[in-house]
Amino acid sequence: MPAEGIPLTPKDHLLSFEEIERLAAVFVDLGVRKIRLTGGEPLVRTGVEEVCRRLSGIAGLKTLALSTNGVLLRQKARELRHAGVTQINISLDTLVPAKFKRITLRDNLDSVLDGIREVSHGEFDSVKLNCVMIRGFNDDEIFDFVDLANALAVHVRFIEFMPFAGNGWSMESLIPSQEIRRIIETRHDLLPLGIVEAGRGPAQEFRIGGGRGTVGFIATISEPCCHSCSRLRITADGKFRTCLFAHEELDLRSSLRRGDALEALKLAIGGAVRGKWAQRPDPVDLLHATDRAMVAIGG
Ligand SMILES: C[S@@+](CC[C@H](N)C(=O)[O-])C[C@H]1O[C@@H](n2cnc3c(N)ncnc32)[C@H](O)[C@@H]1O
Repeated sequence: MPAEGIPLTPKDHLLSFEEIERLAAVFVDLGVRKIRLTGGEPLVRTGVEEVCRRLSGIAGLKTLALSTNGVLLRQKARELRHAGVTQINISLDTLVPAKFKRITLRDNLDSVLDGIREVSHGEFDSVKLNCVMIRGFNDDEIFDFVDLANALAVHVRFIEFMPFAGNGWSMESLIPSQEIRRIIETRHDLLPLGIVEAGRGPAQEFRIGGGRGTVGFIATISEPCCHSCSRLRITADGKFRTCLFAHEELDLRSSLRRGDALEALKLAIGGAVRGKWAQRPDPVDLLHATDRAMVAIGG
């Protein structure tokens, strides 16, 4: 969250539940098999369980996943599971309350940890913690996250810090995945689980020797894997982005509200997908190229 927060989007700019369902059905018809709800923060949307029910009911969709900051997860976990969510990612970048407050502008680390415990009993097919490492901020907590992975038998993914509008990124703040891996290996054996398709590209995943947890590394900056990225994004206000770093968006909300024919919608989506960048720009250029803060894209 940028330090000054972000302006809230007027409600009528957000896709309605019907619009979300209609768009999702179009994408499933075009071949999409997995949908992830991200945000902003999906669990603050009133009726998110109903959105999940509608999406998981679309014939042809195989997986409904959700990424959350975890604050409301303890209360909502059971209903989300009943509504068809099978995979949960929780973002957690620090285990130190003061640092948590600094980076999230909120004071509820305990609620997040409760939420993680709530979903770690095996009801979900997959539970992953996403941990963005920032040099000088949380690189002293790498072993604490490894210990947490073992304590809860969950998967911790160390994600490289990426540049977005207002997030204070610099090349010095980036800790390459290889460096984190070498640090962990000074105390633990990392036993390769093979190359796993992670959506953004292949993530390397490892079992922690002698422990119950697993760790993974997503090296979006130091080892870009644009060639294997199959992700497409729709923002909460109905804009279609073919790359996390894209600065072009296709306005699907207007198409829906104008009543454009389904075939025209599909053609426009196909055209945008064919125009997807072969490779994202250089990270330093990205700092100036991205107009949306990460909170307004969804990760
Ligand atoms: C932006 S969040 C949105 C969904 C939800 N509110 C959450 O907290 O998970 C999605 C993912 O993006 C990651 N993320 C945010 N900013 C990032 C950055 N600058 N570099 C890498 N990952 C980032 C977060 O850690 C999170 O795992």
